[in-house]
Amino acid sequence: MRSPNLQRSSGSKEIWPFNCSVPHVSEAALRALESARGDAESRGDIMLVQAPGRVNLIGEHTDYNGGHALPMATGYAIGVAARRRVGAHHRALSLNYQEETSVLPGGGPEATPHGRWSAYVAGMLQEMERAGRRLRPLSLHICGDIPSGAGLSSSAALCVATGMVVDAIASGCSTPVGMALRAQRVEHEWAKVRCGIMDPLACLLARPGHALLLDCGRLKWHHVPVKLGEVEFVLIDSGVRRKLGATGYNERRQECADALRCLQQSRPKLRHLCDASESDLPDLGGGMHWMRAAHVVRENVRVLAAARALEKCEWEVLGRLMVQSHRSLRDLYQVSCPELDCLVDAALEVPGVLGARMTGGGFGGCTINLVASSAVERLCIEVAERYREVFGCEARTMVLGASLQAGRVAPIPGESFHDLPHGS
Ligand code: GLA
Repeated sequence: MRSPNLQRSSGSKEIWPFNCSVPHVSEAALRALESARGDAESRGDIMLVQAPGRVNLIGEHTDYNGGHALPMATGYAIGVAARRRVGAHHRALSLNYQEETSVLPGGGPEATPHGRWSAYVAGMLQEMERAGRRLRPLSLHICGDIPSGAGLSSSAALCVATGMVVDAIASGCSTPVGMALRAQRVEHEWAKVRCGIMDPLACLLARPGHALLLDCGRLKWHHVPVKLGEVEFVLIDSGVRRKLGATGYNERRQECADALRCLQQSRPKLRHLCDASESDLPDLGGGMHWMRAAHVVRENVRVLAAARALEKCEWEVLGRLMVQSHRSLRDLYQVSCPELDCLVDAALEVPGVLGARMTGGGFGGCTINLVASSAVERLCIEVAERYREVFGCEARTMVLGASLQAGRVAPIPGESFHDLPHGS
């Protein structure tokens, strides 16, 4: 199967489009700005950036296997407002957690609890410093409305927004791939999740009204227009929250690495598990390694078919691929959970629902549903009812409306933005 024409991202020739203003400013960014304005300890101009959360339409657990994924930005974001402060170190304030933390230069991951918001900020500041962005102490005001732990990549958005604000102040010009790799390292080292590169790339590159077809093995991408109207994408949040580092996520990644090593015995040139084909799978026998690899290889094929269906508005085709993806994640990759399965099964019983699947790493979080616009209300009511009956709790539904874009928010009326001098 041929992949659509993907753009090559090529090192220094890459354009970093994030130093220009974004068309839509998120609520979260405005709240971060407000907080920075009222900060008595800091002074001077305020640099404000935002990064959206993403939802993955299809292509789960393919990114760290060198395959494709099809994420899309949501209308939820994280805003970071930075201002120079008097003092010896950076200070970060989370408006959501009403917590404040000092970031000491040179403090390593051991000093910060894994997976806490402050670990992502501290990790990213250190990554930016390693990349040569030297800064005098800053106050970072952080606010977000991406539900955390829901598989909507709030942590990637936080890393990316922190990196962007530093780059903007230090007049750096990171490439999207460079920035995404830094965010990925923070997940690996500071949150102990061996995740792939999809989330930070999606947060950085997604454009409103488009999905992003990513080739995570070759680091190429292509924006696919999403023509909603006749249909909508609806997110349903199971409310189940698990930190990926405490689930089977890292274990799955290891199982895939083992399956790849096994296939490489007869195909030494095979670089990624996603490059294997259906005909290679029997070499893995019929056990767990076969199950993991069968999911990964077939899911990768589904992503390309889904991107074509999305482009041509073939909604039924796209819906069928989403359902196949969920079943494969449930049965072969074993990363679903009873709550997500219930949400998917209940949705598929509603007339007008074309597709439903879990989205993100799994073990909890959200489902993404493709629904005829006329059936959205019925979907929300009936799925919520079934979920309440079975689990006794509420499932929150969110229609994916206009999506946001990562970048610098400037100018805000009444606020003047001037870069602090380089290296200040
Ligand atoms: C999480 C990870 C991603 C990806 C997905 C599963 O979101 O951060 O890298 O592996 O799970 O597709």
